Amino acid sequence: MSKKILVVHGPNLHLLGQREPNIYGKTTLEDINKKISAKAKKAGLDADTYQSNQEGQIIDKITQTNSELIIINPAAYTHTSIAIRDALAAIEQPVIEVHLSNIYKREEFRKKSLISGVATGTISGFGENSYYLAVQAAAVLLNKINEKKNK
Ligand code: DQA
Repeated sequence: MSKKILVVHGPNLHLLGQREPNIYGKTTLEDINKKISAKAKKAGLDADTYQSNQEGQIIDKITQTNSELIIINPAAYTHTSIAIRDALAAIEQPVIEVHLSNIYKREEFRKKSLISGVATGTISGFGENSYYLAVQAAAVLLNKINEKKNK
């Protein structure tokens, strides 16, 4: 049976395709989600995708999921939300942080992530491919965890 993963998109990512396309690309969130699901399937994973502009809703989704791993682009909450960080720290599942842009190459206020400290790793700067690379990373990580369990 394929392993479930949850992919969370934070605020304003519903506008992908029309929002600052020079920074975030021209692909819509719907198309990215379709590709995430297809790449996940190929990697033996079953991806549930979720977008919200509300911090509380994101926290509810994180803390109620039965997925085995979370991929999250917290968007602007990356730089502000102790509450989302705490939710990710509270759960057992591993977390992969994703950004379309390279947050370390942009404004000073984007260089600090409150999320990185509770993530297994971060993929930042590859446009929509950041998500697909994260799906690959998720497959590798879950296989490794499974191998350990079966030892
Ligand atoms: C982002 C980077 C954040 O700084 C920004 O607020 C976003 C998107 C990214 O994917 O590059 O909304 O997380």
